[in-house]
Amino acid sequence: MTVKKALIPAAGLGTRFLPATKSMPKEMLPIIDTPVIHYVVEEAIASGIEDIIIVTGRGKRAIEDYFDDSPELEMHLAKRHNTELLKLVRDVSSLVDIHYIRQKEPHGLGDAVLRGENHIGDEPFAVLLGDDIIVNDKPCTAQLIEHFEKYGMSTLAVEEIPYEKLSSYGIIKGKPLNESLFTLEDIVEKPAPENAPSNLGAIGRYVFTPEIFDCIKEAGTGVGNEIQLTDGIRLLNNTQTIYACKFKGKRFDTGDRLGYVKSIVDFALENETLREDVLEYLKEILEADENPKQGKTDMIIESLVDKNTTQEYEKLGEE
Ligand code: G1P
Repeated sequence: MTVKKALIPAAGLGTRFLPATKSMPKEMLPIIDTPVIHYVVEEAIASGIEDIIIVTGRGKRAIEDYFDDSPELEMHLAKRHNTELLKLVRDVSSLVDIHYIRQKEPHGLGDAVLRGENHIGDEPFAVLLGDDIIVNDKPCTAQLIEHFEKYGMSTLAVEEIPYEKLSSYGIIKGKPLNESLFTLEDIVEKPAPENAPSNLGAIGRYVFTPEIFDCIKEAGTGVGNEIQLTDGIRLLNNTQTIYACKFKGKRFDTGDRLGYVKSIVDFALENETLREDVLEYLKEILEADENPKQGKTDMIIESLVDKNTTQEYEKLGEE
């Protein structure tokens, strides 16, 4: 059995990016010119997903507008014969069929997943958290689906997490089957680093069989007084062998401020129209940093003065 449906929770308040997220969804923060959620939807489509449900909340209309047609903008671009931008804008709205459902109150990730139960029905489905962008030729979700197709059991993507960040993730205890595959023995939501059962954290890509819904309901409220997906996974593990896969690819945690900055720099360096200028700028910053007595602005002024002075001398020579 394969996986055709995906659920993307996008109801979180985005407090790490306040004040920007006061009036815009965190999922719409751009990596240069493309919102984070665009990459997540693209990953789902490239993994064979045909039906996406996005769980939104109040203040998230911009996500719906982004994936919708935009008649005024399209007319404006058509009048100006800007075919390239017109195509870009139209391509976004024709990506895939997307359904939206609102989570009325932020009650946790488990609750967000439960909002999708009626739409998903009795089918396996993928969950892609909107904070992560994962770059790889074979998308992370496709890797999980491929595994699911072989074994028919719920599977989650894990990555080695630095010690000081363990308390931000669901951390697994796994029995290794090979270098990159584990059967799940336990999963603990956001443990103190000294209590973490390993350094392998769930990074926000999952494939579930529909039994997960009942397990989330049965688990009820957990850490932070929220309905945790992790608690549902723990219960599901009592009746099903769950697999944890160390996925292939580079993950950008855009939900973290430093991770967000890093992803912009990396994407800029991958972009052929920006790469050279960005590299030059980074070099400038590094040189100024190696020369702490001289700030970057001082260096630029100095080089300008040098140039002007040389030009003045050259002029005198000509006269
Ligand atoms: C959620 C999950 C956590 C998982 C993490 C991945 O936490 O509850 O188990 O490891 O996503 O990003 P959140 O980041 O929503 O606090």
